[in-house]
Amino acid sequence: MATVTFEHVTKKYGDVLAVNDLNLEIRDGEFMVLVGPSGCGKTTSLRMIAGLEEISDGTLRIGDRVVNDVAPKDRDIAMVFQSYALYPHMTVRDNLAFGLKLRKVPKADIEKRVQEAAGILDLGRLLARKPKELSGGQRQRVALGRAIVREPAVFLMDEPLSNLDAKLRVQTRAEIARLHQRLKTTIVYVTHDQVEAMTMGTRIAVMSEGLLQQVGTPQELYDMPVNRFVAGFIGSPAMNFLDVTVTSGPDGPTLVANDVTIPVPPRFRQMVGDAAGRHYIAGIRPEHLDIGQATSDDASMTATADVVEYLGNEELLHLTAAGQDIVAIVDAENRVTPGDKLSMVIPLDKVQLFDPESGLQLGAQRTAVAAA
Ligand SMILES: Nc1ncnc2c1ncn2[C@@H]1O[C@H](COP(=O)(O)OP(=O)(O)OP(=O)(O)O)[C@@H](O)[C@H]1O
Ligand SMILES: [Mg+2]
Repeated sequence: MATVTFEHVTKKYGDVLAVNDLNLEIRDGEFMVLVGPSGCGKTTSLRMIAGLEEISDGTLRIGDRVVNDVAPKDRDIAMVFQSYALYPHMTVRDNLAFGLKLRKVPKADIEKRVQEAAGILDLGRLLARKPKELSGGQRQRVALGRAIVREPAVFLMDEPLSNLDAKLRVQTRAEIARLHQRLKTTIVYVTHDQVEAMTMGTRIAVMSEGLLQQVGTPQELYDMPVNRFVAGFIGSPAMNFLDVTVTSGPDGPTLVANDVTIPVPPRFRQMVGDAAGRHYIAGIRPEHLDIGQATSDDASMTATADVVEYLGNEELLHLTAAGQDIVAIVDAENRVTPGDKLSMVIPLDKVQLFDPESGLQLGAQRTAVAAA
């Protein structure tokens, strides 16, 4: 097992800054997910660990060893790609064994490792088959098996589930999580899918345009995103954002957006002060809104239901409130119909506040932010 450490690592392709001054320490045995939109530098970061991409600047370590100039085959890593690229003319057994044969691993050892990997991934019955006789999910398991038999210090995975259909993706996601619990090997996993990141990662590193935005556990990112980008990226459906203006009221400063008035939540009171006229962006997650009347710890807003998406146990409401579109998830028993006028409760302790210029959340730890 091993740590992976990026110290001020930068990767440029000509004028393109694919990865910009990345500082990230991946701990021994950790399941680290790199997540972010297309083109943010995830694959480039992973390929630098693999040694498939030269580093323009900075230092990369695996364990204590600086690997900037170490050849890929000497890095003790195994990589699983989106396209599993099995050898079509070989059986599953030979696909699993092939890399070890090349490395001149003794035959008995190869057989033992193949059997172990087949056991872990439930491939025992499939060892004599060729890839074309397997389902997509089974092929992806063989690709994982090929990485496991290498017994690497670090697994690198680049969107390994994206070729699978929705149901298989959920299944294989759980298999990879189980694999990690069992092997306890360091895994660096790349995805653009925040649900995969939230469900699989021990910690998640969110990237945007080559810049690391925040590193934390799934719960830290959900509860305390450092900026508006992370707030909008983590969580599904995405957080609602309201432009609000600080206004003085009889009971102290409030946040006002059109006809909606929200008392400044207690944890922001000191930071907001009584700066009447100042603008902020209030963030409210769809699952935190509910239908009902506000108590003294909440705020409320009137809303009109435009579209109702019935999901069985819940319904997803597209509302007009405060002059804009707001999404809420409520219990399906509410049976909202389009056109309904609703009173929505906003729990104050769930409201987040962002600076409109820097995008930073008020009070978020600046140290967690790579750049504003
Ligand atoms: N070989 C290359 N030459 C030039 N630019 C490149 C090269 N590889 C990647 N880039 C650029 O570097 C940036 C980061 O690319 P990267 O492949 O790391 O993104 P990604 O986060 O993996 O995106 P995706 O989710 O689409 O796979 C992009 O702007 C991309 O166009
Ligand atoms: Mg990629």
